[in-house]
Amino acid sequence: QRLIVRLLSCPGTVAEDLRRDEQPSGIVETGFEDKIPRKRFSEMQNERREQAQRTVLIHCPEKISENKFLKYLSQHGPINNHFFYESFGLYAVVEFCRKESVGSLQNGTHTPNMAMETAIPFRSRFLSLKLKNQTSEQSCIQSSNQLPPSNRKLFELICYAESIDDQLNTLLKEFQLTEENTKLRYLTCSLIEDIAAAYFPDCVVRPFGSSVNTFGKLGCDLDMFLDLDETRNLSTRKTSGNFLMEFQVKNVPSERIATQKILSVIGECLDHFGPGCVGVQKILNARCPLVRFSHQASGFQCDLTTNNKIALTSSELLYIYGALDSRVRALVFGIRCWARAHSLTSSIPGAWITNFSLTMMVIFFLQRRSPPILPTLDSLKTLADAQDKCIIEGNNCTFVRDLNRIKPSGNTETLELLLKEFFEYFGNFAFNKNSINIRQGKEQNKPDSSPLYIQNPFETSLNISKNVSQSQLQKFVDLAQESAWILQQEDTHRPSVSSNQPWGLAAILLPSVPNRGSLTKKKRKRSANERVKNLLESLKSNRTANFTETNEK
Ligand code: GTP
Ligand code: MG
Repeated sequence: QRLIVRLLSCPGTVAEDLRRDEQPSGIVETGFEDKIPRKRFSEMQNERREQAQRTVLIHCPEKISENKFLKYLSQHGPINNHFFYESFGLYAVVEFCRKESVGSLQNGTHTPNMAMETAIPFRSRFLSLKLKNQTSEQSCIQSSNQLPPSNRKLFELICYAESIDDQLNTLLKEFQLTEENTKLRYLTCSLIEDIAAAYFPDCVVRPFGSSVNTFGKLGCDLDMFLDLDETRNLSTRKTSGNFLMEFQVKNVPSERIATQKILSVIGECLDHFGPGCVGVQKILNARCPLVRFSHQASGFQCDLTTNNKIALTSSELLYIYGALDSRVRALVFGIRCWARAHSLTSSIPGAWITNFSLTMMVIFFLQRRSPPILPTLDSLKTLADAQDKCIIEGNNCTFVRDLNRIKPSGNTETLELLLKEFFEYFGNFAFNKNSINIRQGKEQNKPDSSPLYIQNPFETSLNISKNVSQSQLQKFVDLAQESAWILQQEDTHRPSVSSNQPWGLAAILLPSVPNRGSLTKKKRKRSANERVKNLLESLKSNRTANFTETNEK
């Protein structure tokens, strides 16, 4: 199996040709055992949303018989699939085959009576299962894991990998969102949609960002977008004869104020009536107003925005880039983990680089390879057909949506080479005069003096990394140079496979030594050796668990 994995992760081999030719139609290999369907993003989102609408979330007693539980629920209709997970208690996600089953289950559910408090009645799909009589049943339920691997486990896995390619694919496999986690994300959006529907019956709450763009790590936040297009467009649909009927509405001076008002009431609603929604914060004066809250049962930190169609389109673009070549996601995950391990990224907003910017940098780098691994956004626009035409708020967001119409790259470089070259490339990039532009896949003169300029692919006059300070950029450059140097040294110093020495990806995930920018080559080598020695020590004493945060957010 390992050999197959190695063959599959080695581009440019017979295996790659087999991979391209023999996949059942609609499926593409992503570099490991997982498969990403070559479905259009919108198709995938619609399917997942429909699936989520047939699903309920149930808080279960600790001791429960899985068979009896399923039998009990099956009274309401056949179950398509289910899984359990733990998060301060045991939860079950149950997907019925038919939507009516959810209504039937809700009809047999009642609002609890509490001695000291009063329940606010709300008919949601987040339920609690109680046992009428305590039974002595032994629970042997298998829980699905929703958390990223511990640093120690990850470290061991990547140290024992056979090549840097293998290390990057292992990292991807361990950190990527699982099928269950993805289902839970869509279900959470669907539950929030039910609450928002109290005000806007035709609204849709869509996940975007790393939950859906294929670059999400277990533990990442859940970005959701309240789509009111259906509500807005209703009036334009029904016209007859010489008459046009319009809704009487309240008017406000700007789109921004409308967004703030809508989010304000939804925030209140989540806070007062949303089961499991806690810590609701209304951040309405931000550039992009949002409501932030924790969805306790799923454990997700949620950011709800509205009027944010461009962000959803960015997610669609990243989804396409992630599915085009098996090396893209592996490299992005590697770079994201590297940046997190060195505190280049943070869950707190500030002057640091974001994961979104890092992903853009990797895409740009892959567009600059010879031959390119990824096409430019302009060439994706050229491939677009009439159906793909899309203008959002005056911005041209047209690009090909059908993955099957994009020719695969003929580039056969290994992930190992790409990782090294990424650090070389950005370690020496002329950030002082050039900007990064994935639309044209070319460096361009910076239009302003921001330390890091990454052109927003759709709102082309904006810089997505405007927040990054000179010192954070310098830190990135220093670390990129150091990592390039460490990987270079290893060409001749790779330890034997059986050794547990940190090497390759493991070596560059280690905390850095201070003032490395001013170190001479000789000193750098000595400090790298010292770091290896320290790490071996810390491995023995279990201290490696501290080399990076477990959770991204
Ligand atoms: P995580 O760090 O895993 O959450 O990655 P993410 O891609 O989800 O990033 P984040 O939660 O910060 O933002 C969610 C989405 O909003 C991104 O995927 C982008 O589509 C969009 N976004 C974030 N930051 C910017 C920005 O500065 N400019 C623009 N145009 N879009 C942004
Ligand atoms: Mg996010």
